[in-house]
Amino acid sequence: MKLIYEKSKPGRRASSLPQPGLPPAEVPEELRRSSPPRLPEISEPELVRHFTALADRTFGVDTGFYPLGSCTMKHNPRVNERVVGLPGFRDLHPLQEEDASQGALELMWRLQEILAEVVGLPAVSLQPAAGSQGELTGLLLMRAYFADRGEGHERREIVIPDTAHGTNPASVTMAGYEAVGVKTDFRGNVDLDDLREKVGPQTAGLMLTNPSTLGLFDEGIEEITKIFHEAGALMYYDGANLNAICGIARPGDFGFDIVHFNLHKTFSQPHGGGGPGGGPIAVRERLEPFLPVPAVVREGDAFRLDYERPKTIGKVRGFCGPFGVFVRSYAYIRSYGPALKEMSEVAVLNANYLLARLRDAYELPFDRHCMHEFVLSGRRLKREHGVTTLDVAKRLMDYRFHPPTIYFPLIVPEALMIEPTETEPKETLDAFADAMLAIAREAAEHSELLKEAPHVRPVKRLDEVRAAKRPILRYLFGEHDEPEGSDEPRELEAQKGA
Ligand SMILES: Cc1ncc(COP(=O)(O)O)c(C=O)c1O
Repeated sequence: MKLIYEKSKPGRRASSLPQPGLPPAEVPEELRRSSPPRLPEISEPELVRHFTALADRTFGVDTGFYPLGSCTMKHNPRVNERVVGLPGFRDLHPLQEEDASQGALELMWRLQEILAEVVGLPAVSLQPAAGSQGELTGLLLMRAYFADRGEGHERREIVIPDTAHGTNPASVTMAGYEAVGVKTDFRGNVDLDDLREKVGPQTAGLMLTNPSTLGLFDEGIEEITKIFHEAGALMYYDGANLNAICGIARPGDFGFDIVHFNLHKTFSQPHGGGGPGGGPIAVRERLEPFLPVPAVVREGDAFRLDYERPKTIGKVRGFCGPFGVFVRSYAYIRSYGPALKEMSEVAVLNANYLLARLRDAYELPFDRHCMHEFVLSGRRLKREHGVTTLDVAKRLMDYRFHPPTIYFPLIVPEALMIEPTETEPKETLDAFADAMLAIAREAAEHSELLKEAPHVRPVKRLDEVRAAKRPILRYLFGEHDEPEGSDEPRELEAQKGA
């Protein structure tokens, strides 16, 4: 497929009307450009075809099943988009006076209250823009808390299980702490004997995902909390897997002091490809004074931004955080209302149904019921037929499914991490299970089919390392021919349509 610059022909135009009621931008004479920007010149029908063709090649949760473990790719209800597009939300400037933005402040305050209730912790900051930024913010709170108690120099370690998401150790290092690994036991829980040896007066805290990235709820959670709290350390809950337990169990009740939410997973929000996210954090009373400013507070019937927090760690993001994400998450939560628990129950049910259908064809490293996701191993297929988990993932694309997360968590060889979410019907789950079973048979009978997959996608196997490390994101004019006729002098002119 040609790039839009390669389709460009001088003089072709598409048009859009300016927003009514806005005064024309007044750019000072000396800042005005003297020649037109080198934008592609293309007619409206060609423009529409170009982007429709690109959209056709794109796989998303709106085009098919997307069981990407840990990423919680659920349906994004269209009503959320209607609500976030209401002019009062959409056109609000972040610097609008408080008097004129009471509705937005109230929505943020209400969201804070709901999130506090969901995790059982009293104080919330909506500011962080992603789970990973929530992690960093939580760790900076730990630092501020221990510094305030005069223990900052002594407590310099954070304990992290070997199943942790990569952002956990990265956040620990960024926050200036040392990461200390703890092993997983034969049932997929944190190994308590190993843990006891790792925790002491040097420990600032634990970072734990529960259910873990194995999709398993840690059976020793009460003991883990005891070990950390007896050592005077704090407990951090990575809430990326909160979709499994909403309305059923609350991290605050089982001892966690700081929690981050991934609004863009648990409470819907189109994401992926680095798309917009929200990573609020909730904390216990003793950590509240350190939360980022401004806090959204209620005074009688009015709402305002509070900057008067002398012990705050400061700001972690511009303005109040990613407001559009707040509106969508609020709409999603309110549409469930008191039945939010059903969201998690169905997510867990769907995952266990798929697990039951797939467990004999693929290896199950920890033989337990799962929560909202589960991890299989393709080790047997590799040993017996020379087929890898990557081959299975590529072949799934021929069956028109997005592959699950692969090779993570790191402790499971040839891992396949599958998360169906609550928004998928049984027919979709069955179609996916049928495809996975067919692929396991193909591995035994026609392994070359898997080795060369995908067969029916526009591109075959890419050099993924090169694509990640050296992506070409700009059209470099010097390396391409100038568009035909471009040496003609051109002027910016009124748009003429196609
Ligand atoms: C377990 C876990 N923790 C943390 C994160 C980081 O969240 P984010 O992608 O919002 O930065 C993820 C993201 O996939 C995750 O799965």
